Amino acid sequence: MTKVLTTDNLSKKYGLLKVLNGVSLSVEKGSIFGILGPNGSGKTTTLSILLDVIPQESGSFQWFEEAPNYQNRKRIGALLETPNFYPYLSAEKNLQIAAQIKGIPYTEIEGVLKTVGLFERKNDHFETFSLGMKQRLAIASALLGNPEVLLLDEPTNGLDPQGIAEIRNLIQSVAEKGLTIILASHMLDEVEKVCSHVAIIKKGVLLVQGKVDEILSQEPMVELKAENMDALLVALKENPLFIEIKKELDKYVVKLSKSISNAEINQYLFNKGIPLTHLASRKKNLEKQFLELTN
Ligand SMILES: Nc1ncnc2c1ncn2[C@@H]1O[C@H](COP(=O)(O)OP(=O)(O)O)[C@@H](O)[C@H]1O
Ligand SMILES: [Mg+2]
Repeated sequence: MTKVLTTDNLSKKYGLLKVLNGVSLSVEKGSIFGILGPNGSGKTTTLSILLDVIPQESGSFQWFEEAPNYQNRKRIGALLETPNFYPYLSAEKNLQIAAQIKGIPYTEIEGVLKTVGLFERKNDHFETFSLGMKQRLAIASALLGNPEVLLLDEPTNGLDPQGIAEIRNLIQSVAEKGLTIILASHMLDEVEKVCSHVAIIKKGVLLVQGKVDEILSQEPMVELKAENMDALLVALKENPLFIEIKKELDKYVVKLSKSISNAEINQYLFNKGIPLTHLASRKKNLEKQFLELTN
């Protein structure tokens, strides 16, 4: 696996306050990597260090398996804070100014406008854009220079549901083109919907990192009810697939050791002479799991 980014024990202090404490991340090429944590946990600080906006206190990081340098910096596109676009200028003109600053030919502008779905609106003034369109233009600007990695800090903050959906779709379509995305967010829901990988940080400490579906995995549980609840309990206890059995009102809530289908559960119990009167899957609330991790 090619590593796009690795950080080794990154730490940062502001005065006496330690805002990053030994954060070691590993981002694989092609992933959509979410840095998830509540406000103030150190996400923006981390991204700022990675972009050489501020220095780290200690620790190190590598881009593309090299020490950071001018050449590999050009392979990174970033949206750390909302860029200052000129309200009375068109989308295209604003991108021309951004391209000029970055030393990128205007010929790239058409492509990035198409990527973010604003090509048809290229002649419209920036001030006439919705918040979602403004944010898409900012992403277009970050895509100038054809970067291999895109860093986004809270890209859907302040957007309405439609704008949020647009940005999430855009992130996924950009990733499908092969870009690696690193996305800081305080929203569990966003990371769960958009990201392939996640690192959860709290107060500058990395709690866990890995694949989203493993880390934010929903433990499989089922609710079961039968005419004969005692016989049901005996049958459940006999099978190691059922690792935890709790009585809740008139039913059992059973934790499964792995994901098996409801049909298999039904079959097993039927073979034991226990017809079920109720069988339903139950997912552990993700919000609750995130809070458990960060509390
Ligand atoms: N320039 C600064 N001076 C002092 N403290 C700062 C500065 N920037 C950030 N902090 C503090 O560092 C911590 C992490 O902030 P930040 O990285 O912005 O968190 P996040 O992006 O996860 O919300 C917070 O406690 C914040 O108040
Ligand atoms: Mg932040």
